[in-house]
Amino acid sequence: LKISELPPNGIGISGESIYLSLVIPTYKERDNIKNVVSILSQLLDESILGNYELIVVDDDSPDQTWEIAQSLLTEYPQLRVMRRQQERGLSSAVIRGWQAATGNVLGVIDGDLQHPPEVLMQLLRSVEQGADLAVASRHVEGGGVSSWSVVRRFLSRGAQMLGLVILPGVLGRVSDPMSGYFMVRRSAIANATLNPVGYKILLEVIGRGKVDQVAEVGYVFRERKEGESKVTWKQYIDYIHHLVRLRLSTGQGGQLSRNVNFPVGRFLRFGLVGFSGVFVDLTVFHLLRTVIHLGLTRSTILSAGVAIINNFLWNDLWTFGDISQRQRNPHQRFKRFLKFSAICLAGVILQALIINFLYNVLGINQYLGKLIAIAVATIWNFWVNLKLSWRV
Ligand code: GDD
Ligand code: MN
Repeated sequence: LKISELPPNGIGISGESIYLSLVIPTYKERDNIKNVVSILSQLLDESILGNYELIVVDDDSPDQTWEIAQSLLTEYPQLRVMRRQQERGLSSAVIRGWQAATGNVLGVIDGDLQHPPEVLMQLLRSVEQGADLAVASRHVEGGGVSSWSVVRRFLSRGAQMLGLVILPGVLGRVSDPMSGYFMVRRSAIANATLNPVGYKILLEVIGRGKVDQVAEVGYVFRERKEGESKVTWKQYIDYIHHLVRLRLSTGQGGQLSRNVNFPVGRFLRFGLVGFSGVFVDLTVFHLLRTVIHLGLTRSTILSAGVAIINNFLWNDLWTFGDISQRQRNPHQRFKRFLKFSAICLAGVILQALIINFLYNVLGINQYLGKLIAIAVATIWNFWVNLKLSWRV
């Protein structure tokens, strides 16, 4: 599905001033829709940052959300309602809304009030200041999730890590690539063919559009008050499918590789710190064994722990010193430490998988295999830590 360079009726875009077309995808949101429309309208009416329209795209909800939306049309002249009876799906709803949109800035927000409406103004301001894409993010300062379980947080982060490995050029560009709350300049995605697979339309926008300047605004993902989430296990499968598809169709060339700027200096420092960790590990191990006569397993675990702390401190002070300097309080530092440890642990598991594959399946010499596994794990550790623990 394509977004045209000019809006369907040619109006809306006048000079530089912002005309926001905000799509609200809905499916079974009858208890939310009136509230959403009224809050958003009020906010945008008061805004001085240009004109707007709200476009509700409803997939023929059995609870008649579309009918309630239509009943609001007279009260809210900037409102438009699309009732889709043929097509289905969140991403395609958003794209269809944008195709019908008049504005030069295209946005999306959930219709269940889980995305705080106030953030809209900050997003608009970022676009006004030149951003091609402004994303509301749960993972920058001021962002978060209200009361997610450990399992849900873990799944969400796991999905993000997987994405970073498969598609670093896309996932690496924003801290919250799963966000469904953002604005993009029409010019950045005009003529790009957006594939309406999956739930995560932002991946398509970054992967296939021409997005140069990105801005992020922190937001707290609220709990749902009315109705229920439509996310099921199928969405996780769809997501992986989506990643692979984007990876295959865009490759690493062109737009994507231009977006990845590998920080060579940082990587060397990270490698050096990792190297220092080996000596710390061996020294502590030696002392524990010979001086305290601690058992083999305990010594191994303790010395590895000390090495992790050593590496973390050097990385925090030196490798990523410029970034940590901006978030120096103990709580933030401790959070980085936990993330660092978890990522390194995942790195060890990755090593085990790789060496097993190289040695048992390909029959490569075990020491060579181990070296390759270390190299891959180091790149993994570096890249994921760069993106999650010390975000630039
Ligand atoms: N038209 C249409 N068609 N709308 C849909 C469909 C669909 O098939 N499925 C869901 N929606 C609408 C919902 O009515 C809601 O307004 C919005 O899309 C988000 O759906 P939820 O089911 O509430 O998703 P969520 O709360 O788990 O996840 C949301 O938050 C994530 C984290 O930021 C989504 O917005 C994700 O895109 C987002 O990444
Ligand atoms: Mn929701």
